[in-house]
Amino acid sequence: MRILVIGSGAREHAIARALAADVQTTALFVAPGNPGTAAIAENRPVRADDPAAVAALATELQADLVVIGPEVPLVAGVADAVRAAGIACFGPDAAAAQLEGSKAFAKDVMAAAGVPTAMAHVCTSVAEVAEALDAFGAPYVVKDDGLAAGKGVVVTDDRAAALAHAEACLAKPGGAVVVEEYLDGPEVSLFCVTDGTTVVPLEPAQDFKRLADGDAGPNTGGMGAYSPLPWAPADLVDDVVARVAQPTIDELARRGARFVGLLYCGLALTSRGLRVVEFNARFGDPETQVVLARLRSSLVELLNDAATGRLAQAPRLRWRPEAAVTVVMAAAGYPGTVRTGDPITGLEAAEALDGVHVLHAGTRLDDDGALVSAGGRVLSVVGLGADVQAALATAYRGVAEISLPGEQHRSDIAAGI
Ligand code: AMP
Ligand code: GLY
Repeated sequence: MRILVIGSGAREHAIARALAADVQTTALFVAPGNPGTAAIAENRPVRADDPAAVAALATELQADLVVIGPEVPLVAGVADAVRAAGIACFGPDAAAAQLEGSKAFAKDVMAAAGVPTAMAHVCTSVAEVAEALDAFGAPYVVKDDGLAAGKGVVVTDDRAAALAHAEACLAKPGGAVVVEEYLDGPEVSLFCVTDGTTVVPLEPAQDFKRLADGDAGPNTGGMGAYSPLPWAPADLVDDVVARVAQPTIDELARRGARFVGLLYCGLALTSRGLRVVEFNARFGDPETQVVLARLRSSLVELLNDAATGRLAQAPRLRWRPEAAVTVVMAAAGYPGTVRTGDPITGLEAAEALDGVHVLHAGTRLDDDGALVSAGGRVLSVVGLGADVQAALATAYRGVAEISLPGEQHRSDIAAGI
């Protein structure tokens, strides 16, 4: 099977790595890709959020399957264009991707489907926001309605800061914000692969969203993750499928927005029970790096079965018994304005370690062919081990081999699990 992966982060490197190792893959392309994907696939330049350009590339490459990594192309309608070109696509159409593209839409779907989530008010004026903040009380949770690359949510005890964030979101054309009740308790990410009818859950993972140790500092795209979750209730996955994923997929189908791809359920296990924190319409980053490191079944079959509506007949997924931990190495300045162009060394030494692999995100080769930083999250170092503690020790041995001036990483990913 000829497969084209769209995107350029460590998530797409992880997806490409699993596809490249699959006997069913005969040709693998990543567009635009990064230096890591170039080592295992053929990179092709493309404007990933241009539906016509991606569909033309998929046609030119005679792709049998297109897998879309990031949310921006999905919301822009890239999957619609690929399907219109007659090519199977793993990723929802623009209409279904609104589940991630608009938090107000997601709340509406959840309400209609009876899915447990935080109580929320959708606001379009500062006065409405102020009223909603006072109704819920601190800690305040204010979310940009639209896509914001992981930076749209502010959780704070500072009412003025909550209002200032809302004002900034409302200042955008068509701006709206969602103010919601604060959810306590541990967070879980559960990925569900779906063909629009059947839902196949992957193994749960946990993501570390804050920049600094001890969950201090600003929210980021994600600084690390681990899987499995030894502390999670045994029926968690079944419960999420029955009460969250399946009703959501059914409600979208009822609205004529069949969801084909990955429904990312971001959940909080609160003192009052399971609640949805957010939905995403694609694989999570960095959770994908640990979930796919543990998948033993064919990823090609799974994604193709979803893209072609055959998940009901798919074989049960098989998983490695090992745990996986990933640690993100980010550039100086992340998640603010990042410094780029710093030299990255030690990757070979890290990858030579047993159980370690390194995934690229914001990297590029400079004019002399040397690897340098080129983005916020630069690398995702993955360690496998007999349990979570062994896996994290392996991952950190990998991190210790790598040098990047000004680099930032958390030293407490999966600690104490
Ligand atoms: P989101 O982009 O909606 O996933 O939000 C990013 C992060 O903000 C989440 O992973 C949570 O850590 C935090 N967050 C979002 N909504 C809430 C909430 N209602 N209560 C507490 N924390 C939240
Ligand atoms: N790790 C969070 C996300 O992918 O949105």
